[in-house]
Amino acid sequence: MTRSGADPRIELDRAPLPDPAEIRWLRRSLCDWYHAFKRDLPWRRRSDAFAIWISESMLQQTRVETVIPYFERFMARFKDLAALAEGEEEEVLALWSGLGYYRRARALHAAAREIMEFHGGVFPHERSALLGLPGVGPYTAGAVLSMAFGASEALVDGNVARVFARVFALEAPLRSPALEQALWRFAEALVPADAGESADAQKGVDPGSWNQAVMELGATLCTPKGPRCQLCPLQERCEARARGRAEELPIPAPRRPLVAVELEMLLARTGERTLLTRRPPGGRMAGMWELPTREIPNARGETHLWEADFSTFALAGGCIPIGEELSTLRHAITHHRITVSLRRATFDPSGAQVRAQNESTWRLAADDDLASLALTGLTKKALRAVSGPAL
Ligand code: ADE
Repeated sequence: MTRSGADPRIELDRAPLPDPAEIRWLRRSLCDWYHAFKRDLPWRRRSDAFAIWISESMLQQTRVETVIPYFERFMARFKDLAALAEGEEEEVLALWSGLGYYRRARALHAAAREIMEFHGGVFPHERSALLGLPGVGPYTAGAVLSMAFGASEALVDGNVARVFARVFALEAPLRSPALEQALWRFAEALVPADAGESADAQKGVDPGSWNQAVMELGATLCTPKGPRCQLCPLQERCEARARGRAEELPIPAPRRPLVAVELEMLLARTGERTLLTRRPPGGRMAGMWELPTREIPNARGETHLWEADFSTFALAGGCIPIGEELSTLRHAITHHRITVSLRRATFDPSGAQVRAQNESTWRLAADDDLASLALTGLTKKALRAVSGPAL
């Protein structure tokens, strides 16, 4: 419900689109600002579909500053689609290690193989073909088509949602179907014509610049907290600012309650090597390597993320005495707030229980090899916390 008590879906369905003169003004003002003030980011120096696809996949749910070194390492290793298709999934995951949402990395790898096999190694130019690739949704399709091919294709992400919700005063909660529908309707109306067909494109008003300009505004000035409206090129047409509601829009999505999770992790070393266990296939972070980890059940006996008797922990715990606490770590994954007790353990790889286990579920990784393994983000954090004296 809105403050007026009306169903926001009905109101947003009818929210009028800007008229053609206003659309021209919005495009021109924002694209001019973008070309004058855009950040110099590594993927902006490239216009090929491969680089744009990789960067936009990394940028979903992840901040620009975090993505930059990952993007540079990834592009240095995989220079094009063929190289990525030929690589092993394990190596792709290793280069993604710490970025989170590993489904994205697996999908990129699978999509590269599909493009090589079914599209002659050429990135598809049609929306329907792109949407058929693993991991490519409406956002990624819009980003690649507009930025690499100059096609008049819209996109909506969190930044676009915030900018449009403010400029057009769209009063419905984030992630609600009513707002999603309205955002796409506005995005499609505002994106400029195909770059190849338009005189505007010569002046820097093209689909790729426009889409990036909206996101750039959301990332740099039209920020969730403390928007810098005095610097905004759209301030005079911003409906939320006119109503004094810039900081209140967009209306937040209903919050999922936070869940506290308590973990125990083991740092088990022999010589210069660390015991790692492999996550089981099929689940979260499948196939990635981590320090032996188990979740301590809560007072109701429940666990949320790790199984309490996770077999690889049993492998380590069954064979080795667990020693003193080395560090307490905190980690957040979506709505889980994780506290980790990282404990020292000593490990005898000749133990009978260890030999009985399938060796593909554990390894003793040499210190020099750690950087090239597909480690979970939490394990990376734990290893960083104890690097130096404890290692
Ligand atoms: N967020 C995701 N993609 C972006 C881009 N190309 N420019 C600015 N912010 C972004």
